[in-house]
Amino acid sequence: MHQAAENPPDLSLASLALTAGSGDGQSWPTARRLSLARASAARYDAAMEISLDPARVQLDVVYGWLRTAYWSPDVRREVVERAFANSVVAGAYVGDAQIGVARLVTDQATFGWLCDVFVAETHRGQGVARAMVRALMADPRLQTLRRWCLGTRDAHGVYAPLGFGPVNPAIWMEHRPDAAAWQAQSATR
Ligand SMILES: CC(C)(COP(=O)(O)OP(=O)(O)OC[C@H]1O[C@@H](n2cnc3c(N)ncnc32)[C@H](O)[C@@H]1OP(=O)(O)O)[C@@H](O)C(=O)NCCC(=O)NCCS
Repeated sequence: MHQAAENPPDLSLASLALTAGSGDGQSWPTARRLSLARASAARYDAAMEISLDPARVQLDVVYGWLRTAYWSPDVRREVVERAFANSVVAGAYVGDAQIGVARLVTDQATFGWLCDVFVAETHRGQGVARAMVRALMADPRLQTLRRWCLGTRDAHGVYAPLGFGPVNPAIWMEHRPDAAAWQAQSATR
């Protein structure tokens, strides 16, 4: 169902924290990165891993989360399937269990829209969401992106330390088609 990345990285959280940097575009001194890695890694279940391998995404689990999420209530499964097949996706796993997901809608050249960030309730507050976003930001396919965007109702604090800030309303516009119109469409058309 997915177009597979050529070498999708499977990253341990410790190495991820070491390689992903601060997300602010600055090059941090090694000692600072190491201490950040230790502090972050201590919050994780040691058995947890972040993977960008599309074949590992458990769509049943992810669909169960997204159909109840505030931004996609009652989203249809076919829509979720198509969305994930056309995105770069980070998953968080403990053994075979998926415990988190984050999706980047992107041309893999200039622009990315971060969305569908979700962590299973029992694994929240341990840095899982930030680790998934860091993994996306560190992916070799995404290093030429000029802009990463996202929308959030109340989770600004998850993303701010990774370098995300408010948009400039003087230059940004959006078009939101009537919900009745897009809900009526089949994803297979
Ligand atoms: C929001 C969500 C993805 C965060 O996942 P998480 O793994 O618990 O987040 P992390 O542990 O990586 O980051 C938590 C940090 O963000 C901060 N934060 C700010 N707003 C937050 C929010 N709405 N929810 C959770 N953490 C929030 C926390 O205070 C914490 O800060 P700290 O590390 O300085 O103590 C998770 O709570 C979730 O899945 N919620 C339901 C779906 C949702 O709202 N998704 C976000 C859409 S933008």
